[in-house]
Amino acid sequence: MGVWVPSSSGTGISVAIAGYSRQPGTVIDPAIESHYRTGYERSRLFPGGNPSLEFVRSMELLDRLLPGPPARLLDVGGGPGTYAARLARRGYRVHLVDPVPLHVEQARQAAGRDPAFGFTAAEGDARKLSERAESQDAVLLFGPLYHLTGAAQRRQALAEAWRVLRPGARLLAMAVCRFASLLDGLYEGWLDDPDFRPIVDQDLLDGQHRNPDPVGRPEFFTTAYFHTPDGLAGEVEQAGFTGVAVYGVEGPGWRARPAGWHGTSGAWPAAGKDRRTGPRPRPLSPARTSSPPRRENADRV
Ligand SMILES: C[S@@+](CC[C@H](N)C(=O)[O-])C[C@H]1O[C@@H](n2cnc3c(N)ncnc32)[C@H](O)[C@@H]1O
Repeated sequence: MGVWVPSSSGTGISVAIAGYSRQPGTVIDPAIESHYRTGYERSRLFPGGNPSLEFVRSMELLDRLLPGPPARLLDVGGGPGTYAARLARRGYRVHLVDPVPLHVEQARQAAGRDPAFGFTAAEGDARKLSERAESQDAVLLFGPLYHLTGAAQRRQALAEAWRVLRPGARLLAMAVCRFASLLDGLYEGWLDDPDFRPIVDQDLLDGQHRNPDPVGRPEFFTTAYFHTPDGLAGEVEQAGFTGVAVYGVEGPGWRARPAGWHGTSGAWPAAGKDRRTGPRPRPLSPARTSSPPRRENADRV
């Protein structure tokens, strides 16, 4: 999966943690919650303690695509706060939302590690955000678009992102490539595994990724929807964003595995809230990842 967030010299904004309550009705697929309850996500981007290609590339894209600090960023599906912490350190005002209580707890711990560059975190769902309309300079959707398996659910998440973004603000969204499992299977030699092969077959058929054992075999990921590049761009455009561009986060390159580069994601990006014609989104990165939509400066549609 990929996502991008920018950096820049920070101004040291510190935001108090807490003050948000869990949104009523935050319900996610039990397979997703049980997978993340294992704590697997906290170290995913740093296998063996080294930054993954996904993380390095995502940070590079964030640096390139985000507005400068102290922009206000909403990290929806921000997990344990890996990106939120770095962005806060760069001077962004960051609030993270995630439906998994363990992730919110870990994000708050991460925020507390560097009180001079804190950020806030709260439980919540991409489909119903608590934030005010037009209150954000950028929204990161690095998770919801692939974990929401129904098109209507993804439309809801994109509509919410649209609502909270101010005109001219930017959306960065991540998706997982349709061929991620196939590449994983080829590289890992899993295609003969009777537990893995049906997962790949279904992914290739319709993108509906289901792991019957998301706790015992976390490497097979959990309930998700894997996009094609055009499918991702189309959904973002249908939500009203303009200037959509799709970036490969890792591509097959994650398997080249220079020492320490060991993830399985890919990411892309973004759409703008304007009418201008932007670069056509080009897709994908492989692996288990997603892409972010980018919102370009412009008038609101
Ligand atoms: C693979 S993790 C990615 C975490 C982080 N954004 C990153 O890119 O490293 C996917 C995240 O999406 C979150 N998620 C799943 N369904 C969601 C939903 N409906 N709304 C918001 N977040 C969701 C999960 O709890 C998880 O933290």
